[in-house]
Amino acid sequence: MKNIVILISGGGSNMAAIVRAAQREDWASRYGARICAVISNRADAKGLDIARDAGIATEVLDHKDFASRDAFDEALAALIERHAPAHQSTLVVLAGFMRILTPPFVQRYAGRLVNIHPSLLPAFTGLHTHQRALDAGCKFAGATVHQVTAELDHGQILAQAVVPILSGDSADTLAARVLTQEHQIYPRAVAQLLQTL
Ligand code: GAR
Repeated sequence: MKNIVILISGGGSNMAAIVRAAQREDWASRYGARICAVISNRADAKGLDIARDAGIATEVLDHKDFASRDAFDEALAALIERHAPAHQSTLVVLAGFMRILTPPFVQRYAGRLVNIHPSLLPAFTGLHTHQRALDAGCKFAGATVHQVTAELDHGQILAQAVVPILSGDSADTLAARVLTQEHQIYPRAVAQLLQTL
C-alpha cells in the first residue's frame, strides 16, 4: 500500500480536492494508495473537520509546543510514520501548510514531498503572492505544484495552471480564481506521482 499524508494549516480546500479525487477515481484500486492521515499545525484549521467527515484520521501538532524548528520537524516525521510506516511508500503532500521545513525533514522525504504554491514559480516565492502579482502589473497569475527542496518554493515543477488577471481584481478575487485551478492541478499531479512511487 502507498500512503498519502496531507499536511494543512487552514481551510484545507486543496486537501478536500485530493480526498474527493481519491474517492472518485478509486486511488485504492488504481494506485494501491490511501490517504492515511491529515495533520495540521493549527488546532483551529477548518480542514480538520473536512478530513474527519471524510473518515480520515486527523492529528494536530502545534509548532508552538516546540522549542525549535528541528524539534517540531522531528516530531512531525514521527507522527507521519506512526500513520505511514517508513518501510512503506509514503507521499507527503503539503496543502496550505504554512511552515518552512528543515533540511533533514526535506531530505527524509526527498522525491516524496510535494507542495502547491499560489504563483507561477519561479516568480513570487514566499507570501502575499497575489498582491505582489497585482503590484507588478502581471497580466497572468497561477499556481505551481512542485517537489519540495531545502530552498523555499523551489524544486522541480510538476504542474502549473495559469489564470488571467482582470482589471478590478483584488488579491482576494485573484486568490479565489487561482484556488479553483489549484483544485484541478493538485489531485492530478498527486495521482501522477503515485504512479512513480
Ligand atoms: C492555497 O492557495 C495554497 O496554494 C497556499 O495556501 C492556500 C491554502 O488553501 N499555499 C501557500 O501559500 C504555501 N506557501 P487551502 O487550505 O484551502 O488548500
